[in-house]
Amino acid sequence: MQEIEKATLHICGKKIELPVRTGTEGETAVDISRLRERAGVITLDNGYGNTGSCESTITYIDGDRSILRYRGYPIEQIAAHSDFVETAYLVIYGELPNAAQRVTFSNLLTENSAIHERMVYLFESYPRDAHPMALLSAMVNALACYYPHLATNNHARDIVNFDEAAASLISKVRTITAMAYRMSRGLPIIYPRRKLRYCENFLHMMFSEPYDPYECEPVVGRALNLILLLHADHEQNCSTSTVRMVASSGANLFASAAAGVCALWGPYHGGANQAVIEMLQEIHAEGDDGSRFIAAAKAGKRRLMGFGHRIYKNYDPRAKIIGKSCGELLDHLGVNDPLLDIARKLEATALNDGYFIERKLYPNVDFYSGIMMRAIGIPLNMFTVMFAIGRMPGWVANWREVASNKSRIYRPRQIYTGHAIRDFIPEENRG
Ligand code: CMC
Repeated sequence: MQEIEKATLHICGKKIELPVRTGTEGETAVDISRLRERAGVITLDNGYGNTGSCESTITYIDGDRSILRYRGYPIEQIAAHSDFVETAYLVIYGELPNAAQRVTFSNLLTENSAIHERMVYLFESYPRDAHPMALLSAMVNALACYYPHLATNNHARDIVNFDEAAASLISKVRTITAMAYRMSRGLPIIYPRRKLRYCENFLHMMFSEPYDPYECEPVVGRALNLILLLHADHEQNCSTSTVRMVASSGANLFASAAAGVCALWGPYHGGANQAVIEMLQEIHAEGDDGSRFIAAAKAGKRRLMGFGHRIYKNYDPRAKIIGKSCGELLDHLGVNDPLLDIARKLEATALNDGYFIERKLYPNVDFYSGIMMRAIGIPLNMFTVMFAIGRMPGWVANWREVASNKSRIYRPRQIYTGHAIRDFIPEENRG
């Protein structure tokens, strides 16, 4: 980061000069990292809307101009020409792989696709109806128990084994997800097949039967690749900054990624894809064409799920890509989903409504992704897990940046607004 000028702050009778720094695309930041030391004050930024927590070389977003780039490549080009595995390599290692690198990476994913056989018993101890996100976070964290050589909590050592740990996580998370699905339905576990590609292998583990292998239509494989690669990274969102926060304490990749899964689960983040379908189902069941729901959202009684974004104050470029592919997938599969019609009506209404225009609320990636996943046969309670599989390369890349750069531990401050000092009250005197 280059220093371009100084900003002057007059505070508490002092004049403080603060470096102003700029990144590759000219985005500008006032560096306040020494402000407290020099002026005795901190900055307050509820929800971190104005706080840059790190420097990163992975993803660039300009939310006003609908721009998303992984390692400099526009998301539209990646969506048109790449697949999930190649995108994962790009996000993690910084460059598109050449043919040999691609083969090595694919082989590493294949070699690490199975989970330790004893982990299967873990699934059995959970209730059948356990939410797959709770299971996923537990299982990702449990990887540290079964593969301790990849999770020493010593960054220098963990970085030496990074390639294996990264491939293990990206590959096993798919196996864990499919196993959770099969177990929850009392179905026999289907093991990964070496010859299948990443997305096809996932669908095989989900939907094959021992006597009836699942045949993956190319259009379905492509749709799943698209969904996953569109989620591969999104700079310092809630889950990714959680991953970095945990990593900054020196924690290993599996622990950091498990924390990311937990942060992703909430309905304002990754849980939104499930919430969108629940909202569309509710609108459909009530015979509403969306107008009543929009009115309730404008009155502050409901939230139009899949709409709005902290960063995008214009169309989420991922939503544009996925909205188009969603229609194409459903047409190809001959699926007539009434929820797609409701979603389109909601979108058209909201985009022309003053409330949404004023607040710059546009569809985000979650608005259409659920409809695609439904068409592929993925159950509703697994949508956020699919987001987690897609986001794994981003978490891995961000963990690596923290682990290899000897970052300081993340430790924000606060403004205390509780009681002033008071004397302890013995129990018999309490009201
Ligand atoms: N429906 C109705 N009103 C909304 C919505 C919405 N989806 N989103 C924001 N608003 C209103 C909000 O009520 C507020 O209005 P006012 O200024 O009158 O109080 C204004 O817009 C600003 O909202 P905010 O809550 O301050 O915005 P934020 O940046 O804190 O929140 C958000 C961003 C994504 C959490 C929010 O837009 C939201 O809850 N959207 C629905 C959930 C969703 O789709 N989340 C997925 C995000 S994309 C996937 C990911 O990266 O996680």
